[in-house]
Amino acid sequence: MKETIEKALFSPEEIAAAIDRLAKQIARDYAGQPLLVLGVLKGALYVTVDLVRALSRLPDGPSRIELDFIVVSSYGNSSRSSGEVRLLKDTSEKIEGRNVLVVEDIIDNGLTLQYLRSLLSGREPASLKSCVLFDKPYHRIVEVPVDYTGLTAPDVFVVGYGLDYQENYRNLPYLAQLQSWVFSE
Ligand code: PRP
Repeated sequence: MKETIEKALFSPEEIAAAIDRLAKQIARDYAGQPLLVLGVLKGALYVTVDLVRALSRLPDGPSRIELDFIVVSSYGNSSRSSGEVRLLKDTSEKIEGRNVLVVEDIIDNGLTLQYLRSLLSGREPASLKSCVLFDKPYHRIVEVPVDYTGLTAPDVFVVGYGLDYQENYRNLPYLAQLQSWVFSE
């Protein structure tokens, strides 16, 4: 089979270290308070699970951690955002009066996180913050606040650790750049 990965950008160890740093900040900020962690599928599956695991290992974190997921999509099968965020599955839990932490794998043009902030803030949570593992700050269409940021990714199309190209590569344990011929096929 023809090689499709151009190069690895962040190793599993670098990703784990970034998640540990995020978990420490989050544990400090929510110490003694209940927290609802809301993972944004599909991309944030891996980071949400690993972040919650890291949080649970820390002694002085939130008093209680609950986990929920929301499913949105804007990229479909393309490497370009459609510019329109679609809600595919809403939360299972009610978020009113709760401390909600939205967990995203990546922020690029910012539309997904902006959509989620506006959707969720209208439901009157006690607090609403966001945590993003990979930041691509180069092509924001909207400026949206991110409370916890892990790693800055280069300005290339990235896959792995939850991120896909046409639903492939999510399972890679590292973040990678694809070879450019993949997009022209
Ligand atoms: C990806 C990613 C983020 C969003 C970020 O989701 O998981 O949710 O794009 O990009 P933006 O800042 O440019 O809006 P995608 O729509 O590809 O769905 P997926 O999570 O199922 O892969």
